[in-house]
Amino acid sequence: MEKRELLYEGKAKRLFLTDDENLVISEFKDDLTAFNGAQKSSEAGKGALNNKISTELFKLLEKNGIKTHFVKMLDDNHMLHTKVDVILIEVIVRNIATGSLTRNLGIKDGTVLPFTLVEFDYKDDDLGDPKLNDQHALILGLVEYQDELDKLRRMAREVNDVLRPFFAAKGLNLVDFKLEFGKDKNGNIILVDEISPDNCRFWDMESGEKLDKDRFREGLGGLKVAYEEVLNRILG
Ligand code: C5P
Repeated sequence: MEKRELLYEGKAKRLFLTDDENLVISEFKDDLTAFNGAQKSSEAGKGALNNKISTELFKLLEKNGIKTHFVKMLDDNHMLHTKVDVILIEVIVRNIATGSLTRNLGIKDGTVLPFTLVEFDYKDDDLGDPKLNDQHALILGLVEYQDELDKLRRMAREVNDVLRPFFAAKGLNLVDFKLEFGKDKNGNIILVDEISPDNCRFWDMESGEKLDKDRFREGLGGLKVAYEEVLNRILG
């Protein structure tokens, strides 16, 4: 598979065209950003860890019947995947209250939610990724039909139903995470982007230790060791 011109550069990945019009290559970067780009850093090896973690999790989801863009891992920092039209909705799934949920609604940090919460944020950096309700999403034309919003929620819950028990068996609480979806050339909605400690929160079930990007957001240090620990638990 030939890596051709740069299509898009995001905060954590570069996207390249290939010699196949239906396939693209993501290069996972070592760059770290938080608070909509206001806090920046870099951690050598972070990109490769996220590529490996995402690869394992996409394979697990595919095995459980969830359609994703994943095709294969090409090398440490590169993943081959299906080309899609990205839906500009960040789907946030929460099992335990923390982060913006705690800040916005005053729910005590660490509260196990009575049921899994699925929220939509508008994927727009200039606006600071504001919360969306279904009517906002339809008025903005982010999807065409209510059915598609229902499908995003349903798929997000299916992902959680696979990942939450998987991580629990590895001694990790899957606290919350962000998913992105896209439409493939046939108009099917599939899971895209990455699933890694950059966009999931993992808390060790015994110690409560944070093994995700909150180590960077909160200046705790030890980010790479934490991401390695997540990969080792997945593989273990
Ligand atoms: O910041 P907040 O508490 O809303 O984040 C919820 C979850 O979504 C966290 O796991 C966070 O890593 C992820 N997220 C993300 N990208 C964003 C916003 C949130 O990966 N732009």
